[in-house]
Amino acid sequence: MTREFNTVGVVGLGTMGAGIVEVFARNGIDVVAVEISDAALERGRANLTGSTGRAVAKGKLSAEDRDALLGRVSFAVGLPALRDVDLVIEAVPEHLDLKQRIFAELDGICKPETILATNTSSLSVTEISVATHRPNQVIGIHFFNPAPVMKLVEVVRTVVTAPEVVADVEALCARLGKVDVTINDRAGFIANALLFGYLNHAVAMYESHYATREDIDAAMKLGCGLPMGPLALMDLIGLDTAYEILDTMYRRGGRDRRHAPVPLLKQMVTAGLLGRKSGRGFYTYE
Ligand code: CAA
Repeated sequence: MTREFNTVGVVGLGTMGAGIVEVFARNGIDVVAVEISDAALERGRANLTGSTGRAVAKGKLSAEDRDALLGRVSFAVGLPALRDVDLVIEAVPEHLDLKQRIFAELDGICKPETILATNTSSLSVTEISVATHRPNQVIGIHFFNPAPVMKLVEVVRTVVTAPEVVADVEALCARLGKVDVTINDRAGFIANALLFGYLNHAVAMYESHYATREDIDAAMKLGCGLPMGPLALMDLIGLDTAYEILDTMYRRGGRDRRHAPVPLLKQMVTAGLLGRKSGRGFYTYE
């Protein structure tokens, strides 16, 4: 019998977490949205109201449905608010020790049957799972940015994830209107393993003054039919997140030089140029 997911918890309400909250609540599932502080919670709430407001303005969502969506979300500071949920998705920054600490804590708080999922893009789901006493109920559920718009979800099973947990999560993806691909636990899974070498190469091209940012982006957008150019996409993903993904893939993926983060990327992150979320990255935002 397929498992019921009536209430899910989302940990971390940054770009990805807030988008994931929106996806669940839009599809009739109650969400407990958790952050570590009141300030972070307010930022998360603003991410959610901003995104749903844009959806209403663009005619993708009625004001009534937006209100119903927001009504399904409760906000809380701290993991204990997740004691009754059926599934948790963690979407905090890409640091293994942070994720392991959160999973160990969730393991003690959540019901024994609760599935614990990570939205990690590049870290090892297996290494995260062994921080718990239920590694067979730990899985990767990897959404793409912006989560409410992008259709794909990568479902990542480890060598010990129970087959019924994989099947239940696949059924859940269908309920969310997403298309899932199910893969084993390898750095970058499918999409990022292919995408990030290309994005890194674009930064190297820009760093070497070979072409302007506008021309690099125009070439890929207008010449290759992509929805946006690589530098604009880096700004959307967040340069800090992109750096962490590249660095992890480089270290986990046999030090493939395509994934060695270009020095400019690190410099921009250190200088606080994180892309859209900080107002400036390769481009400047209002
Ligand atoms: N709910 C529902 N629909 C929404 C929405 C929301 N919250 N927000 C926007 N939309 C809709 C818009 O109405 C619009 O629909 P139409 O095309 O029918 O008008 C569509 O989504 C696109 O939105 P916008 O018009 O606001 O923006 P855009 O046309 O400039 O497109 C984009 C923006 C969707 C980001 C597009 O440029 C794109 O697809 N870019 C590539 C994104 C990408 O590659 N993402 C993957 C990044 S890698 C990753 O995420 C992995 C990782 O681990 C980091």
